[in-house]
Amino acid sequence: MRFSTWGCIAALLAAVGLATALPASAQSKACQLEISGNDALQFDKKELKVGAGCKEITLTLKHIGKAPAAAMGHNWVLVRTADMAGVVNDGMKAGLTNQYLKPSDKRVIASTKVVGGGESTTIRFSTEGLRQGEPYTYVCTFPGHSAVMRGTLTIG
Ligand code: CO
Repeated sequence: MRFSTWGCIAALLAAVGLATALPASAQSKACQLEISGNDALQFDKKELKVGAGCKEITLTLKHIGKAPAAAMGHNWVLVRTADMAGVVNDGMKAGLTNQYLKPSDKRVIASTKVVGGGESTTIRFSTEGLRQGEPYTYVCTFPGHSAVMRGTLTIG
């Protein structure tokens, strides 16, 4: 009696675990991105890609340097390439308290906060309205960083 009860519970737990864990991990792995910035004004990747099926993207930005955010902060801001210069210019004026972004800037598709050395941050955003196969630009809007700290994100 005791054995079959435990057997039942174990089978149930296994079934629930499989049913929830499998699709979730398969979905999230392909749609998860990681990028790092350092004290030498560099992102470690110039290109990011996710599969066509990604309805949501999870992005983690890690600052692997040691400099504080006020001196060498990095954020990750996704925009249409044509909007980059405007977003960067307005962001510079907005200052660190606004994460170097104009508040409620409609040109910004997704953005992280500014992180300093040793910090990391993760965001999730929807890909709704974004075109497949079209490269979008990501950039760090910390003053002076956008010339080198940028790259492209392509979906599908
Ligand atoms: Co930066």
